[in-house]
Amino acid sequence: MSFVPPRRWRWQAGLCALLLFTTPIFAVNAPQDVRLPPLKERTTPAPALFSHWGHNSQHCYGCHPSVFPQSPLGFTHQDMQEGRACGSCHDGQAAKAVRTMSCEACHAPR
Ligand code: HEC
Ligand code: HEC
Ligand code: HEC
Repeated sequence: MSFVPPRRWRWQAGLCALLLFTTPIFAVNAPQDVRLPPLKERTTPAPALFSHWGHNSQHCYGCHPSVFPQSPLGFTHQDMQEGRACGSCHDGQAAKAVRTMSCEACHAPR
């Protein structure tokens, strides 16, 4: 005979299953930190990194493929200043403006 859990366990089992299957979805599909392709050669600062986990309040489709298409494109501060890439949100309205953030927020080696 196979094991049949008592009736009172079943909602706990359902909850466990729900947590198991929903929690890792974000982590599995989006790498935590991605290095942005540098367009301009330099020695400092460190390459800019983007944190998916720091943006989990946003929807994937808010950024992909419109702002950040499937194949990564390089961009510069000039582009962000003109409202492209990170600057499409980090304009001081939807999110903090790039120039008001510390360099380390984006350029620190993590
Ligand atoms: C706030 C903007 C933003 C959101 C929201 C976002 N991403 Fe990204 N994603 C980026 C950026 C920036 C990159 C790196 C540059 C590029 O690939 O164009 C990236 C890269 C990726 C990559 C390629 C990683 C690599 O190593 O090249 C995958 C896969 C990805 N994202 C999946 C997701 C998924 C899945 C979600 C939703 C759960 C998501 N992203 C939400 C901005 C975002
Ligand atoms: C909102 C995130 C963010 C902040 C804040 C930020 N940067 Fe950047 N920076 C980037 C990204 C993204 C790139 C393009 C990828 C790369 O070259 O690493 C970049 C590129 C650069 C470059 C290459 C040339 C260029 O114009 O693209 C320099 C130099 C630079 N940053 C310096 C700085 C300095 C100095 C500060 C602080 C005053 C700073 N950054 C703050 C995200 C940021
Ligand atoms: C779709 C809009 C959107 C885009 C595009 C976006 N961000 Fe953000 N970012 C946010 C929001 C909103 C926050 C505030 C935290 C939150 O609510 O998720 C944030 C927070 C951050 C923070 C933390 C700021 C702090 O001081 O706490 C960093 C660093 C950051 N973003 C870097 C980037 C970089 C680098 C890019 C481009 C590769 C980028 N973001 C593109 C919306 C966006």
